[in-house]
Amino acid sequence: MKICDIHTHVLPCVDDGAASMEQALQMLRNAVASNVQYLILTPHCNRPDQQTAPHLQAVYESFCRKAEAIPVRLALGAEVHVTPELPELLRRGAFPTLNGSRYLLTEFPFRWQAADFLPMLEKICSLGYTPVIAHPERYTALMEAPQLVYDWLELGCHVQLTAGSVVGKYGSKVQKCARFLLKNGLACCVASDAHGVESRNNNLLEVESYLSLYYSHRCAQALLWDNPMRIFQNETF
Ligand SMILES: [Fe+2]
Repeated sequence: MKICDIHTHVLPCVDDGAASMEQALQMLRNAVASNVQYLILTPHCNRPDQQTAPHLQAVYESFCRKAEAIPVRLALGAEVHVTPELPELLRRGAFPTLNGSRYLLTEFPFRWQAADFLPMLEKICSLGYTPVIAHPERYTALMEAPQLVYDWLELGCHVQLTAGSVVGKYGSKVQKCARFLLKNGLACCVASDAHGVESRNNNLLEVESYLSLYYSHRCAQALLWDNPMRIFQNETF
């Protein structure tokens, strides 16, 4: 199955992902081994150790030159951490969206209170962005009350599951939340959130098999290819 991976920490030496150029190139080769054809580089942004957008763009351009021989189409994005200051920073266009689209990969603090999500999502949407909420199955509030997600989707947000959560690598509570989202058709895509070549890696074959076996081939295709490609190409859905 062709795969489009919209959440990866492959760009080298800009966050806690790839720690060297060689490791980054190996991560790309590993992605290709899972038949990843499109991959968005999404370094952490808006954390204390954040990189600036111009710096990321420069690292991205140099990385693309080094990766030319690897058959995968690359694009730049960011995983933008939510803080109270985020709306003001977004107003200034401080962070890359996913391949320059309207879609902003948005990561909330894992222990945020349930009531705080919706006002922040409303602010982000009002600025013209469409949040793609990164791995909500790992947020305490959603694990405790997964029906919260309906309000987020009502706003037009999308939800990205992490492959490791789906197959149980983050524990049973996270997996149960991921199952709720999958069973009710609430997730738009599954991505690797790869950070290296060991435990959190670019291998998506396991989750592809899992989705095909426990849900359907059509479901796997929607989550790993059709919907992430809509994001990559800035289509509405
Ligand atoms: Fe991430």
